[in-house]
Amino acid sequence: MRILTGPDGPADEVTDDDLRRLYAAPDRPWLRANMVGTVDGAATGESGKSGSINNDIDKRIFDLLRDLADAVVVGAGTARIEAYRPADRPTVVVSRSGQVPDRLRDAGPGRVVMATCQAAPDLDAARAHLGDDNVLVLGGHRVDLCVLKDRLAERGLRHLLCEGGPHLLRDLLDQGALDELDKSVVPRLVGGLHRRITDGPPLDVPLELRLLLEEEHTLLGRWYVARSN
Ligand SMILES: NC(=O)c1ccc[n+]([C@@H]2O[C@H](COP(=O)([O-])OP(=O)(O)OC[C@H]3O[C@@H](n4cnc5c(N)ncnc54)[C@H](OP(=O)(O)O)[C@@H]3O)[C@@H](O)[C@H]2O)c1
Repeated sequence: MRILTGPDGPADEVTDDDLRRLYAAPDRPWLRANMVGTVDGAATGESGKSGSINNDIDKRIFDLLRDLADAVVVGAGTARIEAYRPADRPTVVVSRSGQVPDRLRDAGPGRVVMATCQAAPDLDAARAHLGDDNVLVLGGHRVDLCVLKDRLAERGLRHLLCEGGPHLLRDLLDQGALDELDKSVVPRLVGGLHRRITDGPPLDVPLELRLLLEEEHTLLGRWYVARSN
């Protein structure tokens, strides 16, 4: 893997230690999202999941970013479609309905946190599955994602990794909660009708490129949301 652009300029090779330094989050509450797409902008492949477009190079950064995170934040849709299971760090599921994805229902205490709203039809069921302390009600009819970041930081979960999906990413950007986007571009074109990495009403968010890596024609970018600097 080589650095095309970064804080110390280009380099022909990076070690795992270099990557940890290059992707270190600032020493403050920080929320980044990691997404993958094809050159023609698809966020999913033929299986309807991101698993059919990602590759080993992207997986290296995916694993690194998980390792650097205090908690993983994921939209309930992605958790259901990608069949999320409890991970080695807390999983925070964002849901309007309050419906806990099947495979996360039997996680140990505190392994899964649900962020939802007062109007959620499944609020009581979420509390029964996860325990009252693990269900955060952060708004009347929508989840306030900036408050979510604050509440997780109060629990010691300061460095957060969002793994999507497209609706949640769009809302994080819209509400000003996102600090960083890490986006891998895999060297493929898939045509067809696929989601992009954001979905929902239009928005216009400027980004600043901090780091661009390349290996075997896969590009790995680290972008800061401009207002976070
Ligand atoms: N290329 C990539 O990097 C990547 C990454 C992740 C996912 N994906 C793909 O994206 C697809 C899923 O897309 P999606 O847009 O449905 O994913 P999503 O954003 O994870 O899921 C949408 C659902 O998540 C909850 N949600 C999202 N934003 C919310 C918000 N602001 N407030 C409250 N709840 C919120 C709602 O759940 P409730 O229905 O429970 O209310 C909503 O119905 C899958 O095919 C997956 O493979 C791709």
